[in-house]
Amino acid sequence: MDIAVIGSNMVDLITYLERMPEEGETLEAPEFEMGCGGKGANQAVAASRLGSDILMVTKVGNDLFGQNTIENFKANGVRIEGVEVGTKTSGAAPIFVDPNAKNRIIIIQGANSELVPETLENHRSRIKQAKLIVLQLEIPLETVYHAIQMGEELGIPVLLNPAPANPELDIAYVKKCTYFAPNESELGILTGMPVKTVDEIKSAAVSLVHKGVQNLIVTMGDKGVLWMNAEKEVFIEAEKVKAVDTTGAGDSFIGCFAHFVTKGSPVEDALQQANRYAAQAVQRRGTQTSYPTLEEFRAN
Ligand code: RIB
Ligand code: NA
Repeated sequence: MDIAVIGSNMVDLITYLERMPEEGETLEAPEFEMGCGGKGANQAVAASRLGSDILMVTKVGNDLFGQNTIENFKANGVRIEGVEVGTKTSGAAPIFVDPNAKNRIIIIQGANSELVPETLENHRSRIKQAKLIVLQLEIPLETVYHAIQMGEELGIPVLLNPAPANPELDIAYVKKCTYFAPNESELGILTGMPVKTVDEIKSAAVSLVHKGVQNLIVTMGDKGVLWMNAEKEVFIEAEKVKAVDTTGAGDSFIGCFAHFVTKGSPVEDALQQANRYAAQAVQRRGTQTSYPTLEEFRAN
């Protein structure tokens, strides 16, 4: 087993619209799509499509969506021994995508809120076999901390993608992670610093590295990616592509990075691959449905 992804799964309810409705207004939208999402599941599926052997630790809802999510993991070759059925409904994400490919997302955690530290303990012997633990913030914070602690105890590096942003995230745990990968707005919320320009983003990044963050990876959408640690600073330009739907692009980046870095690629190379992978994902509609397979990735 290569990677243990400990995190969320959601059903994505994607509406493509011309504009958001005003208060009290009923508005017709041209299109709707439903698919499997959730940041944890997305990252797991991306890495699995590229060929990594993935253990998913998650709680699906006690409903049809939950069963569909399990089938989807199977179809994508993700191990489901760590998937448990909760008592709540499945996590859900109403998503609105505008004509500029920008999205607005609402998340309802549902059963993801039942992924508690004890759930991780149920799967400790399996998680132990991973070369990397990948985490996001769509599950209880105490579970994220427990997973980081577990990684430390088992000697497994941890990649934390702090999405969606949570200003309460404890830096003491962040410092234990080998890779910490926020996007620019999450970086802004965590540091309380401005992040509008690349220079501002760099200053905010420096402040985290000074606090002891080991490898900070800031994804900046069409501005590119910044990797910073105590020794170096690397900037990777974004690929110039015409985006149609950026939903889950960040997750495709994280999944691809995790895949290459556990296969032994140097960090900079893994970031470059992840950049290319995310650039392909934004050119297609949907979340997981837009993630290329290894063959597609190689061909483009
Ligand atoms: O990052 C994109 C994801 O955020 C969507 O799949 C949605 O489920 C939300 O979790
Ligand atoms: Na997409």
